[in-house]
Amino acid sequence: GTANIGVVGLAVMGSNLARNLASREGNTVAVFNRSYEKTETLVTEHPEAGFIPAKTYEEFAASLQKPRTAIIMVKAGRPTDAVIESLMEVFEPGDIIVDGGNAYFPDTIRREKAVRETGINFVGAGISGGEEGALLGPSIMPGGSDESWVTLGPILKSIAAVAEGEPCVTHVGHDGAGHFVKMVHNGIEYADMQLIAEAYDLIRRGTGKSPAEIAEIFAEWNRGELESYLIEITAEVLRQIDAETGKPLVDVIVDQAGAKGTGAWTVQTALSLGVPVSGIAEATFARSLSSHPEQRAAAASLPGPDEAFTVADQDAFIEDVRQALYASKIVAYSQGFDEIRAGAAEYNWQIDLGAVSKIWRAGCIIRAQFLNRIADAYAAEPELPALLTAPYFADALSRGQAAWRRVVIAAAQAGIPAPAFSSSLSYYDGIRADRLPAALVQGQRDFFGAHTYKRIDKEGTFHTLWSGDRSEIEAEDTH
Ligand code: 6PG
Repeated sequence: GTANIGVVGLAVMGSNLARNLASREGNTVAVFNRSYEKTETLVTEHPEAGFIPAKTYEEFAASLQKPRTAIIMVKAGRPTDAVIESLMEVFEPGDIIVDGGNAYFPDTIRREKAVRETGINFVGAGISGGEEGALLGPSIMPGGSDESWVTLGPILKSIAAVAEGEPCVTHVGHDGAGHFVKMVHNGIEYADMQLIAEAYDLIRRGTGKSPAEIAEIFAEWNRGELESYLIEITAEVLRQIDAETGKPLVDVIVDQAGAKGTGAWTVQTALSLGVPVSGIAEATFARSLSSHPEQRAAAASLPGPDEAFTVADQDAFIEDVRQALYASKIVAYSQGFDEIRAGAAEYNWQIDLGAVSKIWRAGCIIRAQFLNRIADAYAAEPELPALLTAPYFADALSRGQAAWRRVVIAAAQAGIPAPAFSSSLSYYDGIRADRLPAALVQGQRDFFGAHTYKRIDKEGTFHTLWSGDRSEIEAEDTH
């Protein structure tokens, strides 16, 4: 074989990734698709790429140098399993199968185990950046064995986005670590998007500004600490005028947000791990709420506040919203990194949180300068208990908290939903509280289920005889 890398699955993401690979010095790319037509189209449309097309899996395997390395870019789930099975029939021990789709990490753990038994390496790699990222340079989050990283590392580095001279790819950890981190990336993406959407809604309803005017506000914010790809594209979307109606496009789009599942996985996993990712959860639920038109129609007659929403000082309000957005964003990222840390502990992955934040600086959907601050925080204190306690973020939160509270109050009074803003503020107030009403919850649990409690003043586990004389006894710890 003459190709050093192959791509299976030539839909947009696969084709773009194959073209990206082919455009880099030293790569020769074999391509395969279930129906040959797609392969033919890609090869004819891009003669410059020098692709080696294959009609069968046998031909594909024969066109690859050893150790054979192939990246699968097909739909997550059954289609991925089918391709893995076919590749296993034609590959040999030492070869490397990479799944570049948005796989659910437990599937990746399962597949890695099964494939490894044959001596073939399996690498689940999260790839972020959409179609353009795949073509020009994505952020790549590979898991898998150290052995496969030796071959794969240089190839992935050749196509990854570059942030301040560094390629946006790192060996995240073994087996499913890469897809786990990609999953949390998407959860953070959901939170980031929802926070921006809430900021837009509050400004629009509070000031009456047009989408085009609000686009200018986002463009301005993009020059400060909020600078990020998502803020940048928000301005683009808000500026867009619908050709057919002449209205802002955002007013023509149906207000029901879709989701392909990665946000829900992030929340489900966080629930199992006991990590409160409330910002991501609210963002995911906000999409669900929006997508039930029958319920929304039925509830539309429920009353809101009596007073109309008016903002006295528009510029001050907009600045408050900006600060609330930044503070809530810090909370969302802090929660997301908590989930990665908890996942690493649960699944025995050595994940360098600072390295993860660095490979998100370019290529991916959540790319932002902000991620450098996260890397700095973990560099200064690798065992940081929570990202928001790092000096830089603690300072930002203390500067922003008054504005954050004003915005959440305004939203509640105006009857404007701001689930991500308000849940982030509650998280902030919860995590910093001296005492939480969790003590009362423990008392309730002990009352109805003898679930026991700990005391603040002595060691041991206790139970009150609620249905007896209400004296306290020492008890077995039942949690
Ligand atoms: C990326 C994106 C990409 C995609 C997801 C989420 O990192 O390139 O996260 O993976 O946008 O499919 O999409 P949904 O919003 O449809 O869940």
